[in-house]
Amino acid sequence: MFAVYAETFSFDDPLSGLVVGERPDPEAPDGWATVTVKAASLNHHDLWSLRGVGLREESLPMILGCDAAGLDEDGNEVVVHGVVGDPRWTGDEADDPGRSLLSERHQGTFAEKVIVPHRNLVPKPASLSFEEAACLPTAWLTAYRMLFVQGACKPGETVLVQGAGGGVATALIMLGRAAGLTVLATSRDEAKRDRARELGAHDVFESGARLPVRVDAVMETVGKATWTHSIRSLRPGGRIVISGTTSGPDVSDAGLTHVFFKQLSIIGSTMGTRGELDALVKLLDATGVRPLIDRTVPMDQAREGFAAMAEGDVFGKIVFTR
Ligand SMILES: NC(=O)c1ccc[n+]([C@@H]2O[C@H](COP(=O)([O-])OP(=O)(O)OC[C@H]3O[C@@H](n4cnc5c(N)ncnc54)[C@H](OP(=O)(O)O)[C@@H]3O)[C@@H](O)[C@H]2O)c1
Repeated sequence: MFAVYAETFSFDDPLSGLVVGERPDPEAPDGWATVTVKAASLNHHDLWSLRGVGLREESLPMILGCDAAGLDEDGNEVVVHGVVGDPRWTGDEADDPGRSLLSERHQGTFAEKVIVPHRNLVPKPASLSFEEAACLPTAWLTAYRMLFVQGACKPGETVLVQGAGGGVATALIMLGRAAGLTVLATSRDEAKRDRARELGAHDVFESGARLPVRVDAVMETVGKATWTHSIRSLRPGGRIVISGTTSGPDVSDAGLTHVFFKQLSIIGSTMGTRGELDALVKLLDATGVRPLIDRTVPMDQAREGFAAMAEGDVFGKIVFTR
């Protein structure tokens, strides 16, 4: 079948290991479903995979892609939850030490077909297009869990979203606004700041700029480049929810004095559960909020999408269609 996959790793030239070609058809074991992919979205995770972060050499070649929307074997429209857990695990799915994201251990979604456990299928409402639904399982689910589960944000609170242009960041802005939060956002780029305001941010700032207020919570996916600013932007008792380190993880000033003196909380967040994805789908169905799509590209031109993401030339999600 047609597939977009990683053949080799290169930290400095991730696209050199990307192949748009053919892979064997998957065979679904008992309890697993075969989904015909109609749309899948690109995540920074796919670039990390090509850099050799989170994916092992012995797993190559690996079809990339963590999320998709498509048709199950009975023709039902479904959204694919990308986290495959240990069936014996009974706690919070996001704490399952045996879990993996599609394209880490199991083949990913940038292909004609993908197989997942039956329980990973979430019904897609007719109100969402396949392209919109394909944005939800990774970036939007991550944003949902950051804001409402790990961050426990309540209507009336003020949040800061760092790096406004990213897939997770645009979801944070739109979901935060829909949930009654005051949303502040930063971006390095003036045009992206303007677009963040159009998307729903109440106010926007240059990356690193002093804010007029101290916020209740910061949503971090940028890491090193924005961490110190995140720490300094919080009110006493505030919290940082972090789910990524796009600019790198090695912070020179972690702000530890601020952490204890201002009694700050630093909270990790990773993906989300099937139940949270179902709730997110219903939230979008009910509110009319829709993922911001930067561009839609036929899957056989996937390289173009990867190149745009590697250059940081995105605002919202890049979606591949079949
Ligand atoms: N833990 C999880 O479950 C999970 C799930 C999804 C994503 N993630 C992680 O979250 C991060 C974001 O993912 P994504 O798919 O949203 O990526 P993306 O679409 O590529 O967005 C990255 C954003 O980071 C900002 N940025 C990058 N370098 C920066 C720098 N040097 N200084 C300031 N800002 C910088 C940019 O914002 P501006 O250009 O607007 O400044 C950019 O728009 C990735 O690291 C990803 O691995 C984690």
